[in-house]
Amino acid sequence: MKVSPSFLSADFGHIAREVEMLNESVADMIHLDVMDGVFVPNISFGFPVIEAINKVARKPLDVHLMIVNPQNYVSQVRDCGAAIMNVHQEACVHLHRTVQAIKSAGMKAAVTLNPATPVCMLEDIIGDLDMVLLMSVNPGFGGQKFIPAIVEKTRRLRELIDRSGSHAEIEIDGGVNAATAPLLAEAGADILVAGSYVFGAEDPKAVIASLSAL
Ligand code: DX5
Ligand code: ZN
Repeated sequence: MKVSPSFLSADFGHIAREVEMLNESVADMIHLDVMDGVFVPNISFGFPVIEAINKVARKPLDVHLMIVNPQNYVSQVRDCGAAIMNVHQEACVHLHRTVQAIKSAGMKAAVTLNPATPVCMLEDIIGDLDMVLLMSVNPGFGGQKFIPAIVEKTRRLRELIDRSGSHAEIEIDGGVNAATAPLLAEAGADILVAGSYVFGAEDPKAVIASLSAL
């Protein structure tokens, strides 16, 4: 299993130290949650902070944009060091155009679905995607409770990807912990995001390793 620890739960008073911990861990990438207070009822951090993280990070940056009009920021997201640009399906009127713009800018294209958005919304674009992120909580906050229906949704997405011959990876975000992670692994997830479970632990590197071993 690949692991993408969510920096939202890190100690922002010690950004470089937290990134160094992730560098030393077996994490595959670093998940960065950008919130605008419009698409979601919370505000997190933006490009200057991502740039600062990028200066010390030795893992690819997986940038999850919980913002309206993400198509307006493709070059800025690329320039601050993102390897993967993750946009919400619900935020994109012209999703095909946005996905092509992300790929033309040299990043991997990922599309995120809120818990209530069905997998079939991606049927006609799945072949163009490098990753699909399923939210297993309503986006906006760390530390929320996992929505159990997302296990079956993961299975449905796995079927769609396998049936269409897409190479897209499945990432799950929200409420991932020791109890929910094995269910998601079994259902066909490729990458798990974990925020509070990792950064709230006494030994975050050991928690990352335990998820990675699934
Ligand atoms: C929530 C963010 C998540 C968040 C997950 O809107 O997209 O990435 O950090 O936090 P946990 O793992 O604590 O549920
Ligand atoms: Zn996220």
